[in-house]
Amino acid sequence: VTRSIGVAVGDRPYDVLIGRGLISETGARLAPRLERPFAPIVTDEIVASLWLEPLAASLAAAGIAAPTIVLPAGEQTKSFDGLAGLCDRLLNLEVERTDHVIALGGGVIGDLTGFAAAIIKRGVDFVQIPTTLLAQVDSSVGGKTAIDTPQGKNLVGAFHQPRLVLADLAALETLPRRELACGYAEVVKYGLLGDAGFFAWLETNGAAVLAGEAGAVEAAVARCVEMKAQIVAEDERENGARALLNLGHTFGHAVEALNGFGEAVKHGEAVGLGCVLAFEFSQALGLCDAHDVERTRAAVGAAGLPVRLSQVFAAPPQAEALIAAMAHDKKAIGGALSFVLARGIGEAFVRKGVAREPLRDFLIGVGAAP
Ligand SMILES: NC(=O)c1ccc[n+]([C@@H]2O[C@H](COP(=O)([O-])OP(=O)(O)OC[C@H]3O[C@@H](n4cnc5c(N)ncnc54)[C@H](O)[C@@H]3O)[C@@H](O)[C@H]2O)c1
Ligand SMILES: [Zn+2]
Repeated sequence: VTRSIGVAVGDRPYDVLIGRGLISETGARLAPRLERPFAPIVTDEIVASLWLEPLAASLAAAGIAAPTIVLPAGEQTKSFDGLAGLCDRLLNLEVERTDHVIALGGGVIGDLTGFAAAIIKRGVDFVQIPTTLLAQVDSSVGGKTAIDTPQGKNLVGAFHQPRLVLADLAALETLPRRELACGYAEVVKYGLLGDAGFFAWLETNGAAVLAGEAGAVEAAVARCVEMKAQIVAEDERENGARALLNLGHTFGHAVEALNGFGEAVKHGEAVGLGCVLAFEFSQALGLCDAHDVERTRAAVGAAGLPVRLSQVFAAPPQAEALIAAMAHDKKAIGGALSFVLARGIGEAFVRKGVAREPLRDFLIGVGAAP
């Protein structure tokens, strides 16, 4: 059974299909949309070894020529160098505006391929085939594309919506446990930001999701995509409601930055901890009660994700260094700190212009060095 969720953005609405075996159906689903039987594939080495064969076979069976570009796996591929190389190769293939470039992989491949598609010939079409939980519930939907620069993550990019997203749940079966947990942090985030019922469902069914139980995984991915689709349709360019998706990301960004954006602390791990910190900070500001903070900590911790600063720093980080990293987040306006806070589970809101003193006191209270 395949679910279809529409993303109603402006003049280019598209569908996110969620189901098992979609990779093998790509050729049949794409063929009627193409103006010529040609669809280059962009993927990384790890995903290529696992999932390229069924995709290539399905495209071949539909008579679609699919030259493949295989890039190194890892965040460093999302760079100016990676972008230049990818653009060069796609242009050498003489890709045309109506061709659909296929991004097969996690958020790195999706973000990079989407950005290349946004700028090549001022925009060629592309299709997302997300293969990580994080990419299925978050990065493949909504049209944010970007690369990293030495100044920080995702600082150069564009809004460019895909034509279609095929979230094949079977792909998650080969995903390492740590990557699954990272995606799960974003899943918990959706419950925390706007759906207390879904959060309660996760308290009961989260273990089944993490164990890869098919029905549970499908239900979780579908609910997250529904929420993201709705938020993005309301606010494609993040002038309002879309900012709620950054719950846990301001604290998380600081944790990632001070850990060098590397393998030590992955994005999803930082987001899980960031969600706990956002709820703790909300409690410290008198917005949210201790019970909801405890439930947040339990849900994040159940996935084996960090819930305390001491789990991601060998020595306590300086509070001021954390605050400085938060102020460098691209969502900061005029250096003023903006946070997604909560009045309770499922009741997040954006607070702009948060003063530094209470933030500093809070960080010291949760283990940062004064
Ligand atoms: N555009 C957005 O809205 C948005 C949202 C959230 C995150 N992001 C970006 O997404 C990126 C993180 O995405 P990610 O966590 O998917 O990372 P990733 O793409 O690096 O994938 C993680 C690892 O899993 C491997 N992998 C992928 N699919 C696999 C599979 N099915 N089986 C086995 N291994 C597999 C990859 O090769 C990689 O080593 C970051 O760059 C982040 O900035 C973008
Ligand atoms: Zn995220």
